[in-house]
Amino acid sequence: MQIKSAEFVMSNSDVAKCPKDRLPEYAFIGRSNVGKSSLINMLMQRKSLAKTSGRPGKTQLINHFLINKNWYLVDLPGYGYARVSKSSKKVFQKFITKYFQKREQMLLAFVLVDCRHEPQPIDLEFMQWMGENGVPFSIIFTKADKLKPNALKRNVEAYQQKMLETWEEMPQHFVTSSSSNEGRDELLGYIGSVNAN
Ligand code: GTP
Ligand code: MG
Repeated sequence: MQIKSAEFVMSNSDVAKCPKDRLPEYAFIGRSNVGKSSLINMLMQRKSLAKTSGRPGKTQLINHFLINKNWYLVDLPGYGYARVSKSSKKVFQKFITKYFQKREQMLLAFVLVDCRHEPQPIDLEFMQWMGENGVPFSIIFTKADKLKPNALKRNVEAYQQKMLETWEEMPQHFVTSSSSNEGRDELLGYIGSVNAN
């Protein structure tokens, strides 16, 4: 898929106020600092369309980006960031939960996990919750540039093994790097194919 335009539309914490035009949308979710906002910039080839930071907890709202004037990418706050206060964590959780439960035009969520780490309980629990709530998702292994090819392959295989303990099959998955653009064509091609159906 070619990207002809990408524009920021709005940020908010209220699912009811998200765009009402019912265009299909794709959401990026995962632990704080895993690289959600960076991946959006990489896909769009724009340095700072989505705000990124070396410090976790940068994205705090639901952010809609209109792509090619006919679909949305949605950048969400990360979960599992210990330094966010308990009360704001609850607010986050509430609107993220509500977003996934209510947003019918959300065709597919991408759950991002850092390719360097072994499967983390918080991610596995989140995917479990997505499954129980009937929310379709794919997995994205981020920061592929940080590992040598062999180690990367080993980690992805180990993740797959772990998933197969509870899932019948490994969900569709992608390997990406926002530094090297690895995975860009595959991911955009996949979104294009979902859009077309
Ligand atoms: P929150 O908004 O806090 O939930 O974080 P996020 O998931 O949006 O992460 P963000 O994109 O802000 O990136 C966090 C840090 O990881 C930044 O310092 C990025 O530069 C770095 N980063 C993200 N993706 C990659 C990648 O593919 N490779 C490398 N080497 N660094 C990355
Ligand atoms: Mg972010």
